[in-house]
Amino acid sequence: MDIKAVILAAGKGTRMKSETTPKVLHEIMGKTLLGYVLDNVKNLASEEFVIVGHHAEEVETFVKHNYKNAKTVLQSPQLGTGHAVSMVCPYLENYDGLVLILCGDTPLIKEETLKKFVEFHTSHASELTVMSTIFENPTNYGRIIREENGSLKCIVEEKDATNEQKAVKEVNAGIYCLNWGKIKSAFGQLKTNNAQGEYYLTDIISWGKSQNLNVNAFILDNSDEIYGINSRSNLATASKIMNKRNLEKYMDEGVTIVDPDSTWISEDTEIGQDTIIYPATYIEGKNKIGKNCKIGPCAHLRGGVEVCDNVKVGNFVEVKKSKISSNTNVGHLSYIGDSDLGERVNIGAGTITANYDPISKTKSRTILEDDVKIGSNTVLVAPVTVEKGANVGAGSVITKNISQWALAITRSPLKIFENWVKNKLQ
Ligand code: UD1
Ligand code: CA
Repeated sequence: MDIKAVILAAGKGTRMKSETTPKVLHEIMGKTLLGYVLDNVKNLASEEFVIVGHHAEEVETFVKHNYKNAKTVLQSPQLGTGHAVSMVCPYLENYDGLVLILCGDTPLIKEETLKKFVEFHTSHASELTVMSTIFENPTNYGRIIREENGSLKCIVEEKDATNEQKAVKEVNAGIYCLNWGKIKSAFGQLKTNNAQGEYYLTDIISWGKSQNLNVNAFILDNSDEIYGINSRSNLATASKIMNKRNLEKYMDEGVTIVDPDSTWISEDTEIGQDTIIYPATYIEGKNKIGKNCKIGPCAHLRGGVEVCDNVKVGNFVEVKKSKISSNTNVGHLSYIGDSDLGERVNIGAGTITANYDPISKTKSRTILEDDVKIGSNTVLVAPVTVEKGANVGAGSVITKNISQWALAITRSPLKIFENWVKNKLQ
């Protein structure tokens, strides 16, 4: 059956205390919270609707640039999660398939879990399914309230809950699957008679029960996946959970992570077998690292980086939007940005690719062909090409292309004044 996804991303995110960035555009290892949710749902849904409101323009721009299949729908003012979903009603008037609802602040959910969730919904002939999990500390989440016979009754928000309800550890993940044709009329009937005076999406559960619909909960074992981000502290916790998950995966695939406690690697990075990642390395965004590489300690890969096999990216090296071909070494204290490095290139310590022109505000590329050797403390002012086999002497500032097998050097001549110090001291 066709699936459309609705992602709630209009809320203010008050608890993040951010003036400049809407909650869903905060990042974990170079990717926004909303980006994680959209990536995990995009293979399942034929279309995604992102509900925007607070900082709408920024969220719209982000979606437009990165997710061609997703539409943004404005919710203004923001009157609650139920109100947010009702914004898609005009777009889905004649739609009769499934709608998967997710929150833009829940980035740890996995695609395979969403798949199982939809399968559960379909195989139970459910008309409305909510995802739940058990939290030892359920504070701030909506609680799943069940009838004595164990069937679902309703969801109660923390702020509306009695002490007895607060003790319930089964919580609402904020992820729902619904047969749109059956549930859509609920959105005209939600009320605001609750502690926050909002239209709660959670009320569709009791509404569904009152309509004698088949309403179910899918209990998720791995509660980490539905961890929602409401505060900076939550953001840090979610980042740690995600990183641990990523590192375990890389280690399972044959990558050595010397110190998992100080290493960060984004989930969109591919790493080949027998590569060693040394401590305090931070790898964010989308990258591809080959086999038998040595990365770090203290290396920073900032996304858009392709590192081929047998490459060394050593201590205090930062790399961004660059390709480093096989058997090349960037050993120490260098910045490689917007560059293409050939095979068997050697980059001396302290080499900088000056890729940014602050006058024109443009970035340019540096191209170092195969077998090029760059002496220590060199600045390569882009756009610049050093052709195959050429050498650059230490301390040079390279502003022109260098032809193959040439030596380029801009160092001023060395002057030695014999006995100069001794004479001064006399
Ligand atoms: C919500 C659920 C709670 C659940 C928790 C899971 C409700 C009423 N509560 O609580 O049961 O346990 O998620 O993480 O649904 N949003 C809008 N428009 C609005 C309000 C919110 O788009 O008018 C968006 C927010 O941007 C956010 C999501 O909806 O991405 C959830 O809102 P939030 O305020 O974070 O709800 P919680 O209090 O976490
Ligand atoms: Ca939330």
